[in-house]
Amino acid sequence: MKDFVFSYPTKVYFGKGAAGKALDLELKNYKKIMLAYGGGSVKKNGIYDEIMELLKNKDVIEFSGIMSNPTYKKVQEGAGLARENSVDFILAVGGGSVIDCCKVVAAQAVTDEDIWEMEFVNKKFPTEWIPMGAVVTASGTGSEMNAGAVITNEDKKIKAGVFAAYADFAVLDPYYTLSVPFKQVISGTFDTLSHCMETYFGTPRESFISDEINEAVMRNVIYNIRQLIKNPEDIEARSELMWDSAMAENGLLKLGKVTDFQAHQIEHQLGAYTDCNHGQGLAVIHPVLYSHIYSEAAGKFVRFAKVVWNITEGKSEVELAVKGINALTEFIKEIGLPTNFREMGITDTKCFRAVADSCNITAGCCKKLTKDEIFEILEECY
Ligand code: NZQ
Ligand code: ZN
Repeated sequence: MKDFVFSYPTKVYFGKGAAGKALDLELKNYKKIMLAYGGGSVKKNGIYDEIMELLKNKDVIEFSGIMSNPTYKKVQEGAGLARENSVDFILAVGGGSVIDCCKVVAAQAVTDEDIWEMEFVNKKFPTEWIPMGAVVTASGTGSEMNAGAVITNEDKKIKAGVFAAYADFAVLDPYYTLSVPFKQVISGTFDTLSHCMETYFGTPRESFISDEINEAVMRNVIYNIRQLIKNPEDIEARSELMWDSAMAENGLLKLGKVTDFQAHQIEHQLGAYTDCNHGQGLAVIHPVLYSHIYSEAAGKFVRFAKVVWNITEGKSEVELAVKGINALTEFIKEIGLPTNFREMGITDTKCFRAVADSCNITAGCCKKLTKDEIFEILEECY
């Protein structure tokens, strides 16, 4: 096990009506609140009205129109607004995109340095930010639980993880997710499963406590996606999935490990070129990537087949490992996610070379892929 120090800065308010409790307790000392949201779903489903009512004694500055796959320009717009209005707290109300954007806005607003330059050129990371909270309206990314924010720099054609603010608190109310389009719900749940797998297949690969908890989370995600497909209103299943999403990103599963996240790196760069849906991209990439790398970590893939997919029959390690990957593919089909890029609406393969060449190679992946192998994987995904 790798050495670690563990403590957690984000307080979680979970359950129906959690926003009321959280805002009441957590915003006592703040007056100027920047309320950030996306393209308007919060206005249709009533969440905006509910939050505005809770903020009725505050000065509210609105920062709206945060798009899926948020851009660096949008971050700069938010940071400018926060500075101009001297906001003292940022409340992000949305899915991963809104929360990610706000995490970087919070840090960018308190420094004159350009955060992108600071992190990717000078290798310095922010230590100060405007305090913020996250009200999750679409679950799956776990963004509310970590300090990473995935931002698309349109000029540089890079979608990358920027390290920025931790939310002081997160509101997880499963009822808020009822209005999310079902396709997006499933995409979000697969993102959670992906985060688990990306951690599980990192190094070291012997199973210990973090991986055993991870196996339980993966089985729980799989079970509850199936429950939710039977009954999309199943609030118990939504609750379990919402907490699974947070569990995958609250650090516990990662303790003592170097994570893999190679599938994410490929998907993020594909996103930089195509603006594709994150969970859908991962669903296509995972099985193809795994078929390229499993022989380098056969023991772990066998365990994945046995413990996560309950596969017991196989004449050899290789057969069992392959059966586990096939079970993942079948599950992706069963839950209605795409199994190739064409089903996602990606029609042009011209960007694949640039996607492969600009993709990061991760330290935790069991096989150090070359850019040509990533290109091959992208072509196979098509
Ligand atoms: O923009 P609005 O109108 O709010 O609509 C959103 C958006 O269209 C809608 N939505 C959200 N809550 C809703 C709702 N519609 C109806 N009712 C509600 N209650 O859902 C759509 C998708 O939202 P978005 O936030 O884009 O999706 P998601 O939560 O999947 O976030 C995706 C982003 O997170 C990044 C991804 O790369 C992508 O940019 N990730 C962030 C991570 C992190 N910070 O740890 C980890 C992930 O691996 C991921 O990379
Ligand atoms: Zn993800």
